[in-house]
Amino acid sequence: MYPSLPRPTIFAHRGASAYAPENTLAAFELALRQSADAIELDAKLSADGQVVVIHDQTVDRTTNGQGKVNQLTLRQLKELDAGSHFDASFRGEQIPTLEEVFEAVGQRTWINVELTNYNAIFDDLPDEAVKLVRRHNLEKRVIFSSFNPRALLRARKLSPDIPIALLALPGPAGSWARSWAGCLLAYRALHPEVRDVTPELVASVHKRGCLVNVYTVNQVEVMQRLLTMQVDGIFTDDPVLARQAFAGFRADIDPG
Ligand code: G3P
Ligand code: MG
Repeated sequence: MYPSLPRPTIFAHRGASAYAPENTLAAFELALRQSADAIELDAKLSADGQVVVIHDQTVDRTTNGQGKVNQLTLRQLKELDAGSHFDASFRGEQIPTLEEVFEAVGQRTWINVELTNYNAIFDDLPDEAVKLVRRHNLEKRVIFSSFNPRALLRARKLSPDIPIALLALPGPAGSWARSWAGCLLAYRALHPEVRDVTPELVASVHKRGCLVNVYTVNQVEVMQRLLTMQVDGIFTDDPVLARQAFAGFRADIDPG
């Protein structure tokens, strides 16, 4: 993806989410301490148009609050506890803004920003995310991914230098993304679900000069099987496990 990004790349999925509450600064900082090569996070807009980092469309599962993210203001979101659902020791951890993540770790890692405007596919998320990348001079450290092709096309139009990666839904729902139809986007990388990865899929994507990064992989045997298929990276909740699985397999040069 970028010349100095190690391959196969270990992306810490929602941060080191096996060890800390997902999509929090604690999880991102820990991912770096655990030597992840990159972090993955889920970005969406608050009611007042701020880019916030949270996976679900509601705050119900990962905070002590309730409601849809896009119906709560940043101020309301910031009042919530996004740590206790994971462990009492993380009480007080907040939902971060994308800007806070960029400020905290942007200069120290690569960041896969998943554009998760899945129930508002034409909103301003790509525009706002691109503005933040530019403001923090992170064009060489950010990758945009999404299941929403419109978000990717919009982001690339605004900032052609930032690579885009198409996420493929698992199973039949993602078959278009894994096929020639997905190629029409001219993405830099395909991000398929782990059960859909075959040597043929990897070869066909590589043949077009693109990369394959696989989500979400948390078992050593599966990580190693993917390596034999020559995938370019994995998203994992457990960067420590991935390090162990990848020992001896690493190549820190990106020919692409
Ligand atoms: O980007 C890989 C992965 O995060 C996509 O699925 O639902 O965990 O955001 P999800
Ligand atoms: Mg994600």
